[in-house]
Amino acid sequence: MAAAARPPLSTPAPEPAITLPGTTSLGHPIFTRVRLATPSDVPLLHKLIHQMAVFENLTHQFSATESSLSSTLFPSTTLQPFHSFTIFILDISLTPFTDTPNHTNPLYNPTEKVVNLDLPIEDPERDTFRVGNSDTFVAGFVLFFPNYPSFLAKPGFFVEDLFVRECYRRKGFGKMLFSAVAMQAVKMGYGRVECGVLDWNANAINFFEEMGAKKLHELRICRLTGEALQAYRGTD
Ligand SMILES: CC(C)(COP(=O)(O)OP(=O)(O)OC[C@H]1O[C@@H](n2cnc3c(N)ncnc32)[C@H](O)[C@@H]1OP(=O)(O)O)[C@@H](O)C(=O)NCCC(=O)NCCS
Repeated sequence: MAAAARPPLSTPAPEPAITLPGTTSLGHPIFTRVRLATPSDVPLLHKLIHQMAVFENLTHQFSATESSLSSTLFPSTTLQPFHSFTIFILDISLTPFTDTPNHTNPLYNPTEKVVNLDLPIEDPERDTFRVGNSDTFVAGFVLFFPNYPSFLAKPGFFVEDLFVRECYRRKGFGKMLFSAVAMQAVKMGYGRVECGVLDWNANAINFFEEMGAKKLHELRICRLTGEALQAYRGTD
C-alpha cells in the first residue's frame, strides 16, 4: 500500500477464460486453504504483488523482483512466522486437498474450508497461478508484520497488502485471509490489527468496516523513501 493514486484500472486478462468444472447438486463446491507462504511461492507472490500495484495504479513504484522478494521475505530458514514479515496464501482447488503444504510450521496449522458457490468461477489466469503441477491455484494473499502500539503496551499486526484476485472477489475469500490474521493476533495476545487503505478505495474501506475495523479520519502517513531517505546516508 502506498501513496494516494487514481482509481483502479482493471487487471488485463492475458489468457482466455476457463470455466472451472465441478458442478454438483450442492452447487459449485470449492476447496479453500489458508497456509503460510514459503520461498517456493515467490514467483506467484511476485505476480500477485504486481497485480496489487496495477490495481492501485502504482506500477511506477513497483521495483520488486523475485530475487529481492526472496532475500527480504525469506532471508533465513530459522526466521519464525509472525515475528517478522509473514504471508498467508489462499489456495483453492476443485477437489479436496491431498497434498500437505511443502512446509509445515508448528506455529500455524493450515485451515481448510469448503465453500459452495451458486455459480462457477471463470479464472482467466488459472495456469499463471497454478501451484507447481498441482490442481491447486492461488486466489489471494495477505502480507503482515508486527508493530508496536505503545499506548497498549502490546504488539499488533500491520497488514501491508491484502489481495484477492479479481475473479475470486465477493465470495468471502478476503474475509478468510483477514480473519486468519485477526485470529492469529488474538491467539498471540496482540492488541491491534490495522491496514492502510487508499482514500479512493471505497470497496476496501467497506470491506474493512464490514470486518469490524474503524476508519481513522485523523491519521496521515508521513513517508520517507527514495532520494529523501538516501540523503541521510552517512549523516551520522
Ligand atoms: C478488498 C478485498 C481484499 C476484499 O476481498 P473479497 O474476497 O472480495 O471480500 P469478501 O468477499 O470476503 O467480502 C466480505 C464483505 O466485505 C464487504 N465488501 C467486500 N468487497 C466489497 C465491495 N467491492 N463493495 C462493497 N462491500 C464489499 C461486503 O460486506 C462483503 O460481504 P458480502 O459479499 O456478503 O456483502 C478485494 O476486493 C481486493 O483484493 N481488492 C483489491 C486490493 C485491495 O483493495 N486491498 C485492500 C487494501 S490493502
